[in-house]
Amino acid sequence: MYDFKIAAADKPTLYRDLVSAAEGLVAGEPDAVANMANVAALIWETLPDLNWAGFYRNVGGELVVGPFQGRPACIRIAFGDGVCGAAAATLQVQRVEDVHAFPGHIACDAASASELVVPIVRDGELIAVLDLDSPITARFTEEDEAGCVALCDVLAKVL
Ligand code: SME
Repeated sequence: MYDFKIAAADKPTLYRDLVSAAEGLVAGEPDAVANMANVAALIWETLPDLNWAGFYRNVGGELVVGPFQGRPACIRIAFGDGVCGAAAATLQVQRVEDVHAFPGHIACDAASASELVVPIVRDGELIAVLDLDSPITARFTEEDEAGCVALCDVLAKVL
């Protein structure tokens, strides 16, 4: 049984504990879907104020929804479309304080107000993106971005 109880006082500690728990979850497991599923569940349990947390995989140059927690989401996203597609096309983190002000934002859940998308890259190639949505405007700070980049560095080795 996995029973992670992460309750840190500050965000750097929270993400240090989250990354450490994720490393434990994926250790020795080569199946990418299994690892994405467990990490999506870990994020969902650990980070407050999310309405969607999960992955879109790079399947032949198109993003296809992967393991996630939250409401059913749009299945395929072209590179360049929406926040996820922008991250995929540029390989740059997209931290969007107000999704309604982001040109081309794809609304999978009307409750979403802000979004953080981190590309997961190995040997220069996009493997997937981590996508977090929140119903709170400007939910994601630089500390969230740094923590999720550290998490994706771990995942890049096991997806
Ligand atoms: N909002 C994303 C689409 C994916 S959902 O948030 C799960 C986007 O604009 O790419």
